[in-house]
Amino acid sequence: MAKQSSNTNLHRAKNNKKDEFYTQLSDIENELRHYKAHFKDKVVYCNCDDPRVSNFFHYFSYNFEHLGLKKLIATCYKNQDADLFSTNESEQAVYLEYTGDNNGNSVPDANEIGVKPLKGDGDFRSAESIELLKQADIVVTNPPFSLFREYVAQLIEYDKKFIIVGHQNAITYKDIFKLIKENKLWLGYGFKGGAGHFINTQYENYATASDKRDGMIRVSGVVWFTNLDIDKRHEDLILHIKYNPEEYPTYDNYNAINVDKTKDIPHDYAGHIGVPITFLDKYNPEQFEIIGQMATTKIDEFNYGYPYVNGNKIYARILIKHKKL
Ligand SMILES: C[S@@+](CC[C@H](N)C(=O)[O-])C[C@H]1O[C@@H](n2cnc3c(N)ncnc32)[C@H](O)[C@@H]1O
Repeated sequence: MAKQSSNTNLHRAKNNKKDEFYTQLSDIENELRHYKAHFKDKVVYCNCDDPRVSNFFHYFSYNFEHLGLKKLIATCYKNQDADLFSTNESEQAVYLEYTGDNNGNSVPDANEIGVKPLKGDGDFRSAESIELLKQADIVVTNPPFSLFREYVAQLIEYDKKFIIVGHQNAITYKDIFKLIKENKLWLGYGFKGGAGHFINTQYENYATASDKRDGMIRVSGVVWFTNLDIDKRHEDLILHIKYNPEEYPTYDNYNAINVDKTKDIPHDYAGHIGVPITFLDKYNPEQFEIIGQMATTKIDEFNYGYPYVNGNKIYARILIKHKKL
């Protein structure tokens, strides 16, 4: 029994540690350059961001004037010593507010950033953080993956725009998938090669030798989720292949044809089509409608269970339909 509970504690500690990795400035710049038009006169909130290490805070404070922001807010979860701004004596978590450069040097100086105490620990779910959330127009961060469902549910509840980092596994979560299907959330431009290197000082680097970088952890399958409009969402996928029943078998357990590669979607098939989850990277809602998914063993309103072809279980699929046929 004692062994079991210490294992549970270890597991919990490991899970918490897994949330402690930080996004590189270059990855933030690569994604956010596609959203510049959205930031003018907006209040941006980074609600999982210790400004000592958060490149989100860095990006928005240094690009404040360039983006034409109105205000930048960051909450510093469980952080009592925002020592970047020399207030280490406080026992409380703090939040920061920046309303732009006052002295004309175009740099966010310490005396231009308001560091204010919170009563609690800065949890994004706390009443204090929610009050800050209400002021915000756009939330931008890399939140703890372990709380991703709750995190997104809160953004939707408060009707916020967002650009956040998450894992592609979240796509098939019932609530997240429903938002994708309803066009309330979609994928951003993404990380090079579908994997990101994150700044990490706390646990071992799992990257293979060829992809190892000091002080970094490689996480594959990371994506950006957003509900802000971006150009790629309006670009049609160019398709060349004609449907033929030999190459596109139908599932045993759902009336849709199977497609293994997004580029092989037949341009002339009017029924339901099962495509790999990576299709979402190319999804244009003017071209296709999302019907449901065949992923996981749990069947629900829009999930029909793993797909089978001739008795063989295959990878998870998203079910789509051409809109213009
Ligand atoms: C994946 S890290 C990313 C940190 C930072 N946003 C970045 O991208 O560099 C997630 C952060 O969320 C913080 N965090 C964990 N639980 C939280 C909570 N309940 N409320 C707010 N922040 C939380 C963690 O301390 C961690 O720093």
